Amino acid sequence: MCLQLGVESCEFRLKMGKLITFEGIEGCGKTTQIKLLGDYLRKKGYTIYETREPGGTLIGDQIRMVLLNPDNKGMSEITELFLYEACRAQLIKELREKSSDKDIILCDRFTDSTIAYQRYGRGIDKGIIKELNRIASNGIKPALTILLDLDVKTGLGRAKERNIKGRRKKAAEGRFEEEALEFHQKVREGFLKIASEESERVKLTDANRGIEEVHKEIVKLVEGHLLKADS
Ligand code: TMP
Repeated sequence: MCLQLGVESCEFRLKMGKLITFEGIEGCGKTTQIKLLGDYLRKKGYTIYETREPGGTLIGDQIRMVLLNPDNKGMSEITELFLYEACRAQLIKELREKSSDKDIILCDRFTDSTIAYQRYGRGIDKGIIKELNRIASNGIKPALTILLDLDVKTGLGRAKERNIKGRRKKAAEGRFEEEALEFHQKVREGFLKIASEESERVKLTDANRGIEEVHKEIVKLVEGHLLKADS
């Protein structure tokens, strides 16, 4: 039996599809872009699995409600961190059971969000977050990450508009949107730092453009990646 947590050589290792993640601040348009890319790739014949964090599983969706509920203002930063990691561990377990290595998994947020929000936003030690990310993800790293970059005021404005239009059940999901502008600024800077440190994996996209324009650029980045990976 494998006793070490998060170790890839575990004898129970299962194959999982190629993981492409989408990251960015609130209102950057990840969800819309994932849907467009998923439809595009399905038309091209790929098997696509769309998921998200926090959530993506029955257990994860229940944890999501706790994490994002504005009534839970008093949540400790460590509680928050463990809940995100718990969601991730469950998601990875289920993805490994459900997806085949031919699939492409498009995931709305992953470990980079924990680094941006909990490390750069909340100030939790980087080493702790890295280790918990490794354990929860079982060492799985995204093959490619699309970072949708946007200035914070525009992003939060878009998120508010989306809530007013009722496109999300946001009354119960606004805990992070209630954070100060300064917090979101730190998160954005965190994402940009990750992109500069891991420029091979993380591709920066200007999200302050029309949906179609951003979609076209994402298609180019993803197709470029898939061609490279197949050659
Ligand atoms: P969403 O609204 O994009 O679905 O994301 C939910 C919120 O959770 C968003 O404010 C970012 C936050 N988050 C973290 O703070 N840490 C994490 O590890 C993840 C995955 C999300």
